[in-house]
Amino acid sequence: MTLLSTAIVAPAGRLSGRLRVPGDKSISHRYAILAALADGASTIRHFAPGADCRSTLACLCALGVDVKEDPGGAITILGRGFDRWRSPNVPLDAGNSGTTMRLLAGVLAGHAFSSTIVGDSSLSRRPMRRVIAPLESMGARIDSLDGRPPLTIHGGRLHGIAHRPDTPSAQVKSAVLLAGLHAEGTTTLVEPAKTRDHTERALVAFGGTARVDGDAVSVAGGQRLRGQTLTVPGDFSSAAFWLVGAAALPGSRIHVDDVGLNPTRIALVDVLRRFGARVEVTVAGVEAGEPRGAITVEHDRTLALEVGPDEVPALIDELPAIGALAAHGGSVEVRGAAELRVKESDRIATLVAGFRALGIDAEERPDGFAVHGPSNGAPRPAGGVADAHGDHRMAMAFAIAALAADRPCRIEGADAVAISYPGFFDALDELRREGDPG
Ligand code: S3P
Repeated sequence: MTLLSTAIVAPAGRLSGRLRVPGDKSISHRYAILAALADGASTIRHFAPGADCRSTLACLCALGVDVKEDPGGAITILGRGFDRWRSPNVPLDAGNSGTTMRLLAGVLAGHAFSSTIVGDSSLSRRPMRRVIAPLESMGARIDSLDGRPPLTIHGGRLHGIAHRPDTPSAQVKSAVLLAGLHAEGTTTLVEPAKTRDHTERALVAFGGTARVDGDAVSVAGGQRLRGQTLTVPGDFSSAAFWLVGAAALPGSRIHVDDVGLNPTRIALVDVLRRFGARVEVTVAGVEAGEPRGAITVEHDRTLALEVGPDEVPALIDELPAIGALAAHGGSVEVRGAAELRVKESDRIATLVAGFRALGIDAEERPDGFAVHGPSNGAPRPAGGVADAHGDHRMAMAFAIAALAADRPCRIEGADAVAISYPGFFDALDELRREGDPG
């Protein structure tokens, strides 16, 4: 499949069908990094196919780690333990991936060599002080461009710290915990609000330990990890676009199989119910500490939905999709989400500009946005051209919103979906065909 930088999205009556989504991006990054730190070989099945996780694999290769992909798509990584990563002779390229840059910064802080991590133009604008400050207080030295990439990490002996970040962030938590594995003593991170806990669960799956006590997570330095065979569940944040599509378009029903159902990731389920959708979640099992199973969403009503600051950390990647809910009817108001401004794009500005360009009633706030769908009997949005600004989740949110329009819409920068969901537009065509076979 070739992804074009411009996608044309035609209006849709309804979406229907049953599908699987690609492997979870957050979990794939963690499994790859922990496999590279472990003793022995690991095999990771259903590894995320998007460009972000490829960036992590490429960085690991540059650090001397042996990575192979078998024809069925499983990744085999020959771990080098904590002490045999090689000083890279080229800058490590994290591409568009904040998770790659921040998590690897944590690991490299404990390695006694200097390495530079660079990123694309979007990543080069993103704030890195949130990882630089705690890693420096553990004993590393990190050069940056005024708190932004590239990062040059001068690693070495680290000591454990207790850190309380100002902003809830699973990437910061993971960077500090990964550095803590190399540190002397115990490293503790106290979260201002609970964030996704894949690092904690993955550490245990690789034979390590992480102690969780309320909002505090601690790791002891000097642990050894062992290679594993693991299967990554489907990415709930990719499934989110279909779940939203099913909730928003009258007559729709979508069933997603084999998707990750980690409780720190599925706050969207409650949001969709509050919006008026029927949602059924079935946990089929738990593998490597990660619950997984099926989720079905069926359109029912479209109500007025409010998402408040307390909910934001658990919904951070789903907020663009939540905006798209109201393009079809009902309304959505999101507050306390200023963090969206420092994602792959300024997701508040990009979302509102794109929705307006599609003829959707959207309003920008300093810390969020409001979207008002056409009320009963009102005409559909006129349609137009929305620019995703190279941001994968924006491209997907615009595609779901564009289904509500009166005529085909153009999405510029649509190839950004390759960051997390290369097959997104094919899956959309399939769900549209099943929804409207005639
Ligand atoms: C991620 C954490 C979140 C999220 C990102 C993936 C992770 O970022 O937005 O897409 O894998 O840890 P923050 O930790 O910066 O909130």
